[in-house]
Amino acid sequence: MKDIIILGIESSCDDTSAAVIKNGELLSNVTASQAVHESYGGVVPELASRAHEQNIVPVVDQALKKAGVAKEELSAIAFTRGPGLMGSLLVGVSFAKGFARSLGIPMIDVNHLQGHVLAHFIQEPDTKKEMPKYPFLCLLVSGGNSQIVLVKAYNEMEVIGQTIDDAAGEAIDKCSKVMGLGYPGGPIIDRLARQGNPKAFVFSKPNIAGYDYSFSGLKTSFLYFLRDRLKENPDFIEQNQEDLAASLESTIVDILMKKLRLAAKELSIKEVAVAGGVSANTGLRNAFLDHARRYKWNVYIPKFGYTTDNAAMIAITGYYKFMDNDFCTIDKPAYSRVSIG
Ligand code: KG4
Repeated sequence: MKDIIILGIESSCDDTSAAVIKNGELLSNVTASQAVHESYGGVVPELASRAHEQNIVPVVDQALKKAGVAKEELSAIAFTRGPGLMGSLLVGVSFAKGFARSLGIPMIDVNHLQGHVLAHFIQEPDTKKEMPKYPFLCLLVSGGNSQIVLVKAYNEMEVIGQTIDDAAGEAIDKCSKVMGLGYPGGPIIDRLARQGNPKAFVFSKPNIAGYDYSFSGLKTSFLYFLRDRLKENPDFIEQNQEDLAASLESTIVDILMKKLRLAAKELSIKEVAVAGGVSANTGLRNAFLDHARRYKWNVYIPKFGYTTDNAAMIAITGYYKFMDNDFCTIDKPAYSRVSIG
């Protein structure tokens, strides 16, 4: 049988990434991140697009070389079509379409969020890993999303709960900014939290129906709490950084896990995965392991390299779509907003 070789391209935010998958197995995954945004305290869309323009050709070139694959051997090119920043997406989408057209091979559009969920199916050579069994629940938590996805098949996903305001990562980043820490705040809060007491301070938790989330109340409660304490002691933040980080992290993890537990119980599902940038968080990972023991869940936690944006997840989604002859035509535009379903 002829080898199926997919090149995946991801450029939805501030990472330019390319990956090659052969017959479902990952051969390479190359990512160029953009440090340029750090001094701005957030991603600057215009700068992101320009950096993608500079990075896309060398990143794709390296991914092919690392995989030992010539461009003529490719079966198809999969690319992130959305959601994401329009200027960033356009670089990857246009490049992928032009490259596929010049090689005379099919193009496959991939939903970035679907890619995050399917990151659990990335198969690295010489490692056998457990993959979630359908149907499973996936907690998708990143800078832009906090949702519980019911995954019935690779191409059948339903968002059963989501944030009605801020995403979990966004809340962490904003709170860390209020504390005067760097960007992105997630990894800094994570590091500080390891040294702190998660019960030191109590912040408000939302009371929202069903499986939905809300993080804006927590953000406000954190802000007001700090404002009041700073009036009494201007060094309050510096003196309590670890405890503040640990208490904030534990509040967010509690909020996330409570709804996930409810969904798992009501839907009688014990296969539970986590995905997206915030899934790198140590407290959240520990909570998953704890739930596996307490509730006999089979939990799936991605490798660190696959928590953030990467093209391996786009290539594996592209591989599944290829096997289903699910291709896209050249006229399909990028989209900045779209749901997973
Ligand atoms: O999926 P992702 O890379 O892209 C966006 O959706 O933007 O997620 C980025 C988010 C940021 O909010 C970042 O602070 C958060 O993931 N994050 C973390 C950790 N690492 C990244 N949050 C908590 N703990 C971490 N270790």
